[in-house]
Amino acid sequence: MHSLGILLSGRGSNFVAIADSIDAGRIPDTQIAVVISNKSDAPGIATARQRGLNAVVLPSKGKAREEHDREVVTALKENGVDLVCLAGYMRLLSPWFVQQFPHRILNIHPSLLPAFPGLEAQEQAVAYGVKVSGCTVHFVDEELDHGAIIVQKTVPVLDSDDEHALAARILEQEHLAYTEAINIVLRGNCDVVGRRFGMTTNQGRGL
Ligand code: GRF
Repeated sequence: MHSLGILLSGRGSNFVAIADSIDAGRIPDTQIAVVISNKSDAPGIATARQRGLNAVVLPSKGKAREEHDREVVTALKENGVDLVCLAGYMRLLSPWFVQQFPHRILNIHPSLLPAFPGLEAQEQAVAYGVKVSGCTVHFVDEELDHGAIIVQKTVPVLDSDDEHALAARILEQEHLAYTEAINIVLRGNCDVVGRRFGMTTNQGRGL
């Protein structure tokens, strides 16, 4: 049985999509062991409680990055987490945190990385005038929105789009992409070579 740890700071729709996928059997042999938020008022943490999940608030305000990260990692390890999923977690992880879970931390970003990293990716895409955008699920490394790519999904950018319309179209794809990426990583027959993540040629070796 795999145990996921979900980290969020806000709405939590990606968390709900993952939880729904688990409940529906689309992510087999997997449970959500803990949902952690750095914000006590995150709607996602209220949803986690309503669903009867183990929901923990660890406030980050006023704490040094690594001090907070140590509390989060302790909670993840206490709950036996083997895959960490960032789902709208608005904090950059310290290198120390990243090293605790090698190739075991995923993030979702609402653009086709490496285009438009950072905040307000959908607004950046509309302002730039791209005709196609989408979302990316990737491994977390020590740089923002940077690690090896696991899944990307594309959507058209329409002339009539503002950032809200585009964000809504991308979000539908995010909810599909995260489930797909978790299944690929947990299946364990893939590997990262340089920046490239894909099927291992040599069966049996994997992440
Ligand atoms: C999503 O757009 C995700 O790509 C980005 O933050 C947003 C979180 O939304 N990292 P939600 O809290 O999962 O609804």
